[in-house]
Amino acid sequence: MTTPASAPVLDPLAVLRGLASLRRLAGSYPAGHPMIGQKLKELEDVIAGLLHASNPIRIDVIRGDVFLDGVASASENQANQQLLAQLSTLGIDSIHIVEGVQRDELLAVAEFLWQYTESGESMSAQLAARNVQHISLGRLLPLDTRWRSPQWAEAPTGPLDPDYAESLAMAQKTWEDTAAGKPLDVVTVRDLVQMLIYKVARSNAALGQILAVKQYENLTYCHSVNVAMLSLLLGKQVGLDEATLAALVEAALLHDVGKTQIPLDIVRKPGALDKAERRMIEAHTTLGAEILIQTEGLHPLTPTVALEHHRGVKGTGYPDLGEAIPHPMSQIVSVADIYEAITGARTYQAPTPPERACLIMARMAGEKLNTGLVKKFVNAITFFPVGSLVRTNRNELALVVQTNEREPLHPKLALVDEETYKPMGQIDTSERESSGGYARHITQSLPAPDGLDLREFLEPAKAA
Ligand SMILES: [Fe+2]
Ligand SMILES: [Fe+2]
Repeated sequence: MTTPASAPVLDPLAVLRGLASLRRLAGSYPAGHPMIGQKLKELEDVIAGLLHASNPIRIDVIRGDVFLDGVASASENQANQQLLAQLSTLGIDSIHIVEGVQRDELLAVAEFLWQYTESGESMSAQLAARNVQHISLGRLLPLDTRWRSPQWAEAPTGPLDPDYAESLAMAQKTWEDTAAGKPLDVVTVRDLVQMLIYKVARSNAALGQILAVKQYENLTYCHSVNVAMLSLLLGKQVGLDEATLAALVEAALLHDVGKTQIPLDIVRKPGALDKAERRMIEAHTTLGAEILIQTEGLHPLTPTVALEHHRGVKGTGYPDLGEAIPHPMSQIVSVADIYEAITGARTYQAPTPPERACLIMARMAGEKLNTGLVKKFVNAITFFPVGSLVRTNRNELALVVQTNEREPLHPKLALVDEETYKPMGQIDTSERESSGGYARHITQSLPAPDGLDLREFLEPAKAA
């Protein structure tokens, strides 16, 4: 994307750089030192510029790249790479700043980053104690079934598609058993694969529940079921045959099984991880592959996918396997895995809506993700997938009930009563007015409120 010469360059890295140097200054000079004042002023100006363009500012670091509101930062020089490495050492994966942010809060965050110690208290509680209200820091925790942070529910709440609910329960039991040191239950895994392919994939309600914004901690077992479903969707889109699809679903379901082997104190640690701890988390790939190789009755590619799913198409990522390019099956699971991770609720922060997730993935195409697969995936789920709650430019609340392949930004909607959350009839946003323009646009996607039952909108299930 090119920026017109006249427009100011909005660089999220400037915020990160500002915070990093403020952090250093706050650690080396007494409070009130003019150098701190000068840096604060610079940082304030950068933030004011960014807030002017969009409020809130959302800066995310995803697999080593920086994104501002879903758009990758243009600059990729050595110094920035160092800064990113620093941030990830601090355990920060995202920073959200809302309008009204005060100078004192910036300083408090910088000091917090400098003095951060593990106190058992959550990052958000520690920031609140420092009177920081307009800035939140988030971290993508390697969540597993044994621990979660208390901000969100631990699994999807509300009435679920029954087959999806059963799949989650089966996955949960399998994961808990594996974490407890029992051998992986291949029979249950096989049943689960069949159930996902022949039942869950045929329910629009289940797909809606998987694709829309998630209001729950994405514990490993939920994440795995969702990644399996998304991989299946993408596998069908690229025309894989039935046997290959079954192998793909199995591999996707088990891609993170190594997380059950990571020591709980690392998973639970609220603050920065040191190098050894990060390496331990990265080892979920090799640990997973080892478990899977030792398990009889699995498809031979299943351990390969577990090993390779954090590797990019150019041979970057972990574990270090030289320049080897991941197997196409691993590449499919990578795409599904990243979408799932981005749209999942982050510890201490709200989830990212699907349309932003699609933008982020588009920017990762080529370097980290297979470009063709990303295109197919975004085409399949669209910016506003089935099950998304949206608002139109006419201020109507509505649920996406059918996507439109030719006009992906203009799906069919069911209007939602704002008070009862009941359906109120359908509209087609691809319809045009006599002037030729669209009668409606979607302006926003929203998290689904508690009382909304997707099944009332999406059932009866349509065969996929
Ligand atoms: Fe993973
Ligand atoms: Fe994953």
